[in-house]
Amino acid sequence: METVLVTGAGGYIGSILVPKLLENGYKVKAIDRFFFGKEKLPIHECLTIIQDDVRMLPESYFKNVDYVIDLAAISNDPTGEKFQEETWHINYLSRVRTAKLSKKSGVKRYILASSCSVYGFQENICDETSPTNPLTTYAKANLKAEEDILTLPDDNFNVVILRFATVFGYSPRMRFDLAINGMTYHAWKNGVLPLMRDGTQYRPFVHIQDVAEAMITCLKFPDSAKINGQIFNVGGDNLNYQLLELGNIVISQIEKLTGKKIQLEWYGDPDKRSYRVSFKKIKETLNWEPKRKAEDGVKEIVEKLEAGLLEKTPETITLEWYSTLERWYSVIKNMEMYDGLLKIKTPLKEMQ
Ligand SMILES: NC(=O)c1ccc[n+]([C@@H]2O[C@H](COP(=O)([O-])OP(=O)(O)OC[C@H]3O[C@@H](n4cnc5c(N)ncnc54)[C@H](O)[C@@H]3O)[C@@H](O)[C@H]2O)c1
Repeated sequence: METVLVTGAGGYIGSILVPKLLENGYKVKAIDRFFFGKEKLPIHECLTIIQDDVRMLPESYFKNVDYVIDLAAISNDPTGEKFQEETWHINYLSRVRTAKLSKKSGVKRYILASSCSVYGFQENICDETSPTNPLTTYAKANLKAEEDILTLPDDNFNVVILRFATVFGYSPRMRFDLAINGMTYHAWKNGVLPLMRDGTQYRPFVHIQDVAEAMITCLKFPDSAKINGQIFNVGGDNLNYQLLELGNIVISQIEKLTGKKIQLEWYGDPDKRSYRVSFKKIKETLNWEPKRKAEDGVKEIVEKLEAGLLEKTPETITLEWYSTLERWYSVIKNMEMYDGLLKIKTPLKEMQ
């Protein structure tokens, strides 16, 4: 059995990817700080869970590992701006370190989870040869990680860079801070779908199950020469949605599933910033294309919400959750005495 080490394994994408890797017959080493909890991953004899920080990984974790999928990151723009230094360390420096450790330890293939956000907003349809235009700390750190890691591949060590479109769909570590997921929740909960003017802006999307399948296709791809040192956009040409088109898909799907009437509500000044991405290269090289569309993601989320199996909690909004954790940490650190708060181990006999 081959072994895949996955960083960020307890996250939105990781908690869908890990069970799929197990189904595909891989042994998995799942590494994460588990900021969103460990219970998102299954219990499985071929799964080893390691709670650690990617900035501190020892070489020993990489022993007998065949593949590395590097997902750990501060995972969106607003969180990246609030925690700039940490984003630079985790999303850039630490990923380069992980890639170097992988190479040193004899890992065969390393896959980096990057993002189409490295293109920024551009008039033309962006493919992998287009100039990049990273506008945020998050996008800049992704691009720097790509650049440094692309100096590492050789005949024995493959590197594949995957630039994901914005992901949507259900995951045990749910994220309602992603466009389609957030729109779906808001419309389902409030009967109103807020949409940024003027709705003609394009954005590329991809379903979470398809993202996991794309990564497994990359692991299995036999012809190293075709993918080693290559960048692939991950998504589908027909999933470059205009926001109004997307809003209408979300509305009609929720109305169909629940019978509720949903209103569209415009907000903001017209924001013409738009970008479209070409997914031709991954289709032609890896013979991979997404199987699911926005409708499928909306449906599975609404079904979970209707069944009471999914809620919007602070944990589902990445920025809110990390900010809350940092606040709790400083409050607890300031109050903690004798290894506890209210509960302490007292040496006084009369208190036992
Ligand atoms: N979800 C998207 O739309 C999308 C789009 C493009 C790229 N990506 C990339 O895919 C990857 C996964 O994204 P996601 O949506 O699953 O995000 P996520 O925030 O749900 O998952 C990231 C995981 O990394 C872990 N982590 C963070 N810092 C860590 C550290 N220092 N040490 C160990 N673990 C740490 C977190 O606990 C979390 O489980 C990220 O690299 C992200 O940038 C995601």
